[in-house]
Amino acid sequence: MLQAVDLEQIRRVTRDWRRQALTTALVPTMGNLHEGHLALVRKAREHADRVVASIYVNPTQFGEGEDYGSYPRTPDTDRVALEASGCDLLFAPGHDTVYPPGIKNSIRLLASPDLAAPLEGECRPGHFDGVLTVVARLFNLVGPDVAVFGEKDFQQLLLIRRMVEDLSFDIRIVSVPTVREHNGLAMSSRNRFLRTEEKAAAVRLSTVLSDVVEQVRNDPSHWEQAEQDAVSRLESWGFRVDYVAVRRSDNLAAPSKEGAPMRVLAAVRCGKTRLIDNMKII
Ligand code: PAJ
Repeated sequence: MLQAVDLEQIRRVTRDWRRQALTTALVPTMGNLHEGHLALVRKAREHADRVVASIYVNPTQFGEGEDYGSYPRTPDTDRVALEASGCDLLFAPGHDTVYPPGIKNSIRLLASPDLAAPLEGECRPGHFDGVLTVVARLFNLVGPDVAVFGEKDFQQLLLIRRMVEDLSFDIRIVSVPTVREHNGLAMSSRNRFLRTEEKAAAVRLSTVLSDVVEQVRNDPSHWEQAEQDAVSRLESWGFRVDYVAVRRSDNLAAPSKEGAPMRVLAAVRCGKTRLIDNMKII
């Protein structure tokens, strides 16, 4: 597996691939890779001749008091896992490569408010501005034909699709369903912060979301009741609930007409760890 850490190195490889008429897929990550990330790498393989995975813990998407400093960094095991999953190039840029004039002086994007303001946007103001800023920069550094993202971060996925359309990036966005532990817990780099008893409790988030899916499928008009029931159950088990929301899958608006695709999205705090998850309803 090749490795690149700066603009010159990444350009040398991607220019060479382009000369050979090979297509490239990019899988952006913040590292501490698990099976969810590796499923993205494998999906990328299906869509392009060459796969680049990037590892960069992006400071501009973390708010004050969030876990930027303590975000898990495991470069050695990540490298081994990527190599085994068929990644061709690991791109691990430093801050100078991603934000050449320095983070404070770099141009930033402002995420579309209709998609960025609700749900995660309410709890993490500015988060999606940072995500889109770094993803646009990674797109420009790597120049992929395809980029692969997980449904695990569903609001992020919608915003990236919007950015690609809005800024006319010539990049196809491919999504991958959430990869879960056998007990249903959505895989996440932050799960490693859960203590044993918290890990057992965290499983309940996916159980509750499955129940909301079931309830709303059976009785779509009572989606608000389903949300409230879910919040009460989660709170009774000691979670602090940021939101449980049944929303349209295309624009995150409240469900209106029957038959439109819907999802349930949730964020809770389990001890010190924040968990997010979502599931397709129809
Ligand atoms: P990170 O949390 O490392 O996730 C990288 C990619 O892996 C995202 O597209 C995310 O949705 C996907 N992913 C994470 N857990 C998953 C799971 N259990 N199943 C399927 N896919 C999963 O998301 C980010 O990093 C950052 O915001 C990033 C896009 C890299 C920008 O900094």
